[in-house]
Amino acid sequence: MERVESYARMVDADNGIIDREIFTGEQVFADELERVFARAWLFIGHESQIPNPGDFFSSRMGQESVILCRDRAHRIHVLLNSCRHRGMKVCLYDEGNTNTFTCPYHAWSYGLDGALTGVPMQKALYEDIDRAKWSLVEVAQMTNYKGTIWATWDPEAPPLLEYLGDVKEHLDLALDCRDGREGGSVVFGGVQKWIVPSNWKFPAENFAGDTYHNPSHRSVDMVGMGPNSQKGVQGRHDNRLSDAQHLWVSFPGGHAVHSALKPESNEYHPSFGDHTAVEDYFRDSHEKRKARRGDKARLQAFVGTIFPNTSYHGYLPRSICVWHPHGPQTTEIWRFFLTDHDTPKDVNTYLRHHYMRYSGPAGMTEQDDMENWNYATAASRGTISKRYPFNYQQSLNKTQKNSAIPGCVSEQVTEQNARAFYRGWRNYMTGAAWGDICAEAPSPSLQAAAGDD
Ligand code: FES
Ligand SMILES: [Fe+2]
Repeated sequence: MERVESYARMVDADNGIIDREIFTGEQVFADELERVFARAWLFIGHESQIPNPGDFFSSRMGQESVILCRDRAHRIHVLLNSCRHRGMKVCLYDEGNTNTFTCPYHAWSYGLDGALTGVPMQKALYEDIDRAKWSLVEVAQMTNYKGTIWATWDPEAPPLLEYLGDVKEHLDLALDCRDGREGGSVVFGGVQKWIVPSNWKFPAENFAGDTYHNPSHRSVDMVGMGPNSQKGVQGRHDNRLSDAQHLWVSFPGGHAVHSALKPESNEYHPSFGDHTAVEDYFRDSHEKRKARRGDKARLQAFVGTIFPNTSYHGYLPRSICVWHPHGPQTTEIWRFFLTDHDTPKDVNTYLRHHYMRYSGPAGMTEQDDMENWNYATAASRGTISKRYPFNYQQSLNKTQKNSAIPGCVSEQVTEQNARAFYRGWRNYMTGAAWGDICAEAPSPSLQAAAGDD
């Protein structure tokens, strides 16, 4: 009870004041694993990573290893990677294909559906063992959404689509084909994985729409390494969105995005210079999407975070990012490069090269971000610095209602999305019921406006 009260105190989302303790504390982290990561829907991987029966991909949920695999009947499973005998990992590889998961310790073996299929010397050494009771532990719920696999340990959690609510429309911008066909994106190549000395919430909030941090990327933006950037121009430039209204949108449950809305004309703006094949591909995709989606094609992707630790970079580079918690001050980052299943090879190569220049441990833009998150974590654990909370008051009370876009919308740069993320975090940490977690939080500015009348 005492800890519940302290979490409610640490996060004053309405006034934009947040205690540094939530980024460094050991007890906070232990409670997060129990109250956030053992309850929320988490991204596990993509079905394109396990196309055939027997394919597996080792993933994580919170601090724990799980196996994403496809059984002989093509069903997908998410299994806890821990032997029921003495806990050894039954799968030691990142990915592969197998008939069975045989534990390296005493060789109990499990089928692709997690069933215990083999116990060495069972008849001689065990009087009675009910194998059905000793399967690998399977998640409580698993959902395949447009190829992305999500799971939760909580049988009471609402279905994934209910959990996502209206943020789904923005996530779709990353998961649908660029030409407006539903779904159809795949993970191309391996997953970039690396560990940073940062709390997992720093990157999660950054991807929820921290546009204010653009000065961090000034030097790399001036180099002009991206297709949309202009050499020597300070600040970020994106031809595609030169006539668009940027939108920062937050949702119940702690999800938040930065998207943009093109004007009704929704014209294509060339962005790829001399790369004619790439330009043609994007122009063609744009026109087809417009024809398929009509007015809905005006919505354009930027970034977003699905609470708690999955983010996307929706357009260029296009990827899914996961912030796996290792400890309060250590995070393992995973990045999945997403592309349409039928992207022409030369275009895909161009996009992949841009992705590698931009993202990942060696990506020029991502390095700027990591430096911020790492030093912010380190500088928040000091005896003195811990006494001083963070300021999240940017554009406080500036929420606007945009009837075309569900959610709390801001048309100016804001920390509204971070406040919504931490409001969601506080709900989980104080043990709120699912109904309260997924309920629309009233916007302070709309409340104030109502009071003025
Ligand atoms: S720990 Fe797996 S068989 Fe003993
Ligand atoms: Fe950044």
